[in-house]
Amino acid sequence: MALKFYQDYKLGILGGGQLGRMLIQSGTDWNIDFSVLDPDPLAPCRTLCEFKTGKLTDFDTVVDFGQSCDLITIEIENVNVEALKELVHQGKKVFPQPEVIELVQDKREQKKFYKTNNIPTSEFILVENKSEVKAQKSFLPAVNKLGREGYDGRGVQMLRTANDLDKAFDAPGLLEKLIDFEKEISVIVARNENGETQFFPAVEMVFHPEANLVEYLFSPASISKAVVAEAERIAKKIITDLKMVGLLAVEMFVTKDQTVLVNEIAPRPHNSGHQTIEANTTSQYQQHLRSILNLPLGDTSLVHPSAIVNLLGEEGFSGQAKYNGLEEVLKLHGVHVHLYGKKLTKPFRKMGHVTIVDDDIHSLKKKATFVKQTLKITT
Ligand SMILES: Nc1ncnc2c1ncn2[C@@H]1O[C@H](COP(=O)(O)OP(=O)(O)OP(=O)(O)O)[C@@H](O)[C@H]1O
Ligand SMILES: [Mg+2]
Repeated sequence: MALKFYQDYKLGILGGGQLGRMLIQSGTDWNIDFSVLDPDPLAPCRTLCEFKTGKLTDFDTVVDFGQSCDLITIEIENVNVEALKELVHQGKKVFPQPEVIELVQDKREQKKFYKTNNIPTSEFILVENKSEVKAQKSFLPAVNKLGREGYDGRGVQMLRTANDLDKAFDAPGLLEKLIDFEKEISVIVARNENGETQFFPAVEMVFHPEANLVEYLFSPASISKAVVAEAERIAKKIITDLKMVGLLAVEMFVTKDQTVLVNEIAPRPHNSGHQTIEANTTSQYQQHLRSILNLPLGDTSLVHPSAIVNLLGEEGFSGQAKYNGLEEVLKLHGVHVHLYGKKLTKPFRKMGHVTIVDDDIHSLKKKATFVKQTLKITT
C-alpha cells in the first residue's frame, strides 16, 4: 500500500510549543507537511511550518483549522474538544481521540477512570470549593489539585497540616493523599490503530522543590525489575483500556514499600521523553507519528543511559533571553543542546533542555550537574 503521507499530506498540530517543534523536526524526515495552530505569534513552531495564530479553545477556530488538515493531533491538552468531535464527525482523523483528551483535561475524571479500571492510584476525595477542602482536616497530609487547567505544578497545592488549609483552591478539584514517595518515574507507551502497543524503558524524574518542574531526568530509572514490570503493566493497561491511538506518558510514584501508583497521564509527547531523541533507537516523536499514522511501532530500546537537564529561565530575569555558558557545555562529550526558540525568558520558563548520553553512570551524573551549574539563561 502506498503510504499517502509521503506526498501532499498535511498533519495539523494543536499547539505550537516545544513539543510540537520536536514533532515537526522528526516528521520532516518523512516529508510530512505540518500546519500548526497556537495563540502566540512567537510560539516555538512559528518558523518550521504553516503557522496559524488562533485560540485553541475556540470552537470555530479549531474546526476551521482542522478542515485544512488530513490528520489532527495535539501537543497540549487544553483544546476545544467539541471542535475535535465535530472534525471526527466530518470524517477527519483525530489522534489521540477527542474522548481521551476530554478525560485527561479533568484530573477528577482521570482519578475516577483509574478507580473504575482498577489502576493503582492515591486515595482521593472530590471537592467543589475551598470550604469542602477545609472540612477534610482528618484527610491530611494531602494534595489539593484543580480539576481543570492546572499544568506545570500551577494547579497543585500541598496541604501538609491544618495550617495550610487556607491555601486550598476555591474551585472544583480533588484532594488526594500526600504520597511519601521514593521516586517519581514515567513510562511512555504508544498504540497504533491496529492495536499494537510498545513502551519506552522507565525513566526517573527529580523535581525542582519550588517550581514543581522536572529539574533532572535519568534514563533508565534505577528501580527493581519487579517495579519496572509493574510500571509497564500499568502503562499498557491504561492505553489499552482507553483504546487510545497515539503516545501516552504515564507519570507514577514508587512508594517506599515499592508500590507503584499512577499520578497522572498525558496523551502526547512528554517532557519525560526528550532524551529518546539521542538515547533510544526510536524517539518518542517518531513513535507518536508512527502510532497516529498506523505504522509499525519502532524499537524503543536504550542505546545509552542518559540524563536531561531542563533549561529554565533564571529567577530574577525577565526579557530578551541570553544563554550563558553554552560554549563550555558544548565542549563536553555526549552533550546535545536543544533550545526552544523562545525569545523572551522569565523565571522558571522552559527555554530548552540538554540531553547528555554517557555509558558510565557516574560520569553522566557529573556532566548533568556541570551543565546545570554552567548553562544559565538570563537577560
Ligand atoms: N499525591 C501526591 N503526593 C505527593 N506528591 C505529589 C502528589 N501529587 C503531585 N505531587 C507532586 O507534585 C508534582 C506535580 O503534580 P501533577 O503532576 O499532578 O501536576 P501538573 O501541574 O499536572 O504537573 P506537570 O504539568 O508538571 O506534569 C508531581 O510531579 C509530584 O512531585
Ligand atoms: Mg505531572
